[in-house]
Amino acid sequence: MASNIVVIGLGYVGLPLAVALARHFPVIGFDIDDVRINQLKTAVDRTGEIEPSVLRDTSLKFTFNTKDIHGQDIYIVTVPTPVTNDNLPDLSILQKASETVGKALSKNAIVIYESTVYPGVTEDFCGPILEKISGLKSGQEFFLGYSPERINPGDKEHTVDKITKVVSGQTPEVTERLKYIYGSINNGNVFVAKNIKTAEAAKVIENAQRDINIAFVNEIATIVGKMNLSIYDVLAAAETKWNFLKFKPGLVGGHCIGVDPYYLAECSRQLGHEPEVILAGRRTNESMGGFLASAINKEIKNLGITNAPAKILVLGLTFKEDIPDLRNTKVLDLVQSLKAAGHTVDVHDAIANSDEAWAHLKIRLLPSLENVGNYNCIVGAVPHRSYLDLSIKHFQQLLLPKGLIADIKNMWREIKFPDGLQYWSL
Ligand SMILES: NC(=O)c1ccc[n+]([C@@H]2O[C@H](COP(=O)([O-])OP(=O)(O)OC[C@H]3O[C@@H](n4cnc5c(N)ncnc54)[C@H](O)[C@@H]3O)[C@@H](O)[C@H]2O)c1
Repeated sequence: MASNIVVIGLGYVGLPLAVALARHFPVIGFDIDDVRINQLKTAVDRTGEIEPSVLRDTSLKFTFNTKDIHGQDIYIVTVPTPVTNDNLPDLSILQKASETVGKALSKNAIVIYESTVYPGVTEDFCGPILEKISGLKSGQEFFLGYSPERINPGDKEHTVDKITKVVSGQTPEVTERLKYIYGSINNGNVFVAKNIKTAEAAKVIENAQRDINIAFVNEIATIVGKMNLSIYDVLAAAETKWNFLKFKPGLVGGHCIGVDPYYLAECSRQLGHEPEVILAGRRTNESMGGFLASAINKEIKNLGITNAPAKILVLGLTFKEDIPDLRNTKVLDLVQSLKAAGHTVDVHDAIANSDEAWAHLKIRLLPSLENVGNYNCIVGAVPHRSYLDLSIKHFQQLLLPKGLIADIKNMWREIKFPDGLQYWSL
């Protein structure tokens, strides 16, 4: 069975997948970003997912030239599916990628979508674009498949070769082909969904479920905080029950959990059902940056940290720990709300690229934690590994006497801070 594969979009999802597939099949990795392609050719992955040594050894071919992807057997599309400013699904990138594939398509090719979408997008949105551009008939002259991606960037345990892959094809033969291809990279750990729409629905609800669960603990954090209880103490007790779900409060950002529920919500609306739970969860999570800023602000006032506006150091800007991804980071809301309250805010991130932070978020990152200090407050916003290792000495160097450590992620809970430093967490 000839399986020359093209992966379209080499980001957090596409690159690890293309590298894994290239261990078993001839694979071309295509991306419109020529800078990214040239970096990958020199074994540099700015997302930090793939080691340079792996990139140097891979048989994967990198290109930004559409001429190189014509007439292949399998196209796997892994491009972004963001939302608009109004939180509606923005399928424009998926549309462009489908047009590119449509131009390259030849008879009997299979086009597999991995991007997170709502049910129907593969067959009712992408299929017609491919048909129109290629002049070929969907389901007869070319075939569709869907296989949602579940990787978790920065997570070295649940990598693409170790997690169950859900697949579904337009025909039983196409499904078998998907089983064979994905099974080659993960020892056959493949689940066949009933049909493409079921596979699409499965992915989008996985992320919506996570969002709602985090929203629940965020809401509980707000409630128990009003009673001067710590959410982490409450969770530690509740988690001793065998079926209590272990979610932690926090800022939900990034490209998936904070975005995908809006895809599900819009799909629901199109079907005439106004989604309540899904959007309530989104509202709660969207409000967390402002909520945390006002809680810290209150703490600064109550503890008498300073009479003047405070000088605050925020540690961590990325949307989650140990990855450089700044997309849709909700730390930005926290920083902006603290600034709006009149405070001076410096931001440091141990991993993020400072040019990207400036270009996309208009935040100038401190180049290092050396030679800075005299802060009234340190906010632990993202638990990057290097922040977990900060010692009392580091805090003393950075903070003024009486300074406040606001530990949103509860990462310094075990440290016994000396008298003179104050500690606050949710
Ligand atoms: N990042 C995650 O944690 C994750 C996990 C599971 C699923 N997903 C889903 O996977 C999809 C991709 O996400 P990602 O995080 O890899 O995005 P990303 O932004 O990291 O990468 C996407 C890549 O696609 C490229 N691209 C954009 N338009 C293109 C086009 N027309 N042709 C070719 N390349 C194009 C971009 O240049 C970029 O390199 C999204 O639908 C996302 O929801 C992401």
